[in-house]
Amino acid sequence: MVFLLLKVVTIFGFFASPALAHGIVTGIVANGIYTQGWSLDFYYDIVNKVAYPTTPGWYEDALDSGFIPPSEYQDPNIICHKDGRNANTTATVAAGSTVEFQWTQPWAHNIGPMLTYVANCNGDCETVDKTTLEFVKIDESGIDFTTQEWASGVMIANNGSWTSTVPKSLAPGHYVFRHETIACHGASTLGGAQNYPFCLNIDVTGFGTANPEGTLGVDLYNENDPGIYFNPYVTLTNYTIPGPVLWTG
Ligand SMILES: *[C@@H]1O[C@H](CO)[C@@H](O)[C@H](O)[C@H]1NC(C)=O
Ligand SMILES: *[C@@H]1O[C@H](CO)[C@@H](O)[C@H](O)[C@H]1NC(C)=O
Ligand SMILES: *[C@@H]1O[C@H](CO)[C@@H](O)[C@H](O)[C@H]1NC(C)=O
Repeated sequence: MVFLLLKVVTIFGFFASPALAHGIVTGIVANGIYTQGWSLDFYYDIVNKVAYPTTPGWYEDALDSGFIPPSEYQDPNIICHKDGRNANTTATVAAGSTVEFQWTQPWAHNIGPMLTYVANCNGDCETVDKTTLEFVKIDESGIDFTTQEWASGVMIANNGSWTSTVPKSLAPGHYVFRHETIACHGASTLGGAQNYPFCLNIDVTGFGTANPEGTLGVDLYNENDPGIYFNPYVTLTNYTIPGPVLWTG
């Protein structure tokens, strides 16, 4: 009963406060160092030709309801959010250690998976063409079947933060990290899921040698995927986490 009530509050919260639905990674902690991600304020700074910080977070134009719908899964907007454009600097992380992603607070959507991908820029991530990036999934989490708690609920309970480990065997290089939550409160309608992807430039250091094959952003998802189009309002006993297979190194 309490669980049902929470879900109703979530749906209501979405309609009541669309402003809270903007999905931005406001900052990360990598190698123990905090770095700012992206802020919608920067959009207005750009419009007003005012200086704004250079951060590793990709520019995005998510000024409407703030998500990418399944109807745009085959559009470049799914890669690094709406009009995603290269960041001009990079953070650094050692392979084998973690990146903590901090989401806009408060975050309302507690039904859905959390996913993290990396794509080797094979050169400079500040100028790479995002449509050529091939994403490798390094972290994924769906639902705890015992408690029926979703990964996005865990993220919210953890002060809006999600931590992913970079596989130790990943080859060093310049990477775009693509961190994402998919809000599934409307997933029982075809096209009703909401993707909140966010990209950051992060250099990976270390002694790894693995260069796993990845998937183009526009090939990650389809609107009919079992983990995208399903009824979340039943007790789930299986859940197919969207996207290509997890690479654990
Ligand atoms: C990165 O630099 C280029 C060239 O100066 C600029 O056009 C672009 O807006 C910058 N990107 C961001 C996210 O600030
Ligand atoms: C919660 O996260 C925010 C950043 O999103 C951070 O400034 C704050 O210190 C965090 N609070 C705790 C208790 O960790
Ligand atoms: C659960 O498994 C069934 C049978 O394989 C499948 O049809 C369904 O799409 C799965 N549901 C989810 C939410 O992944």
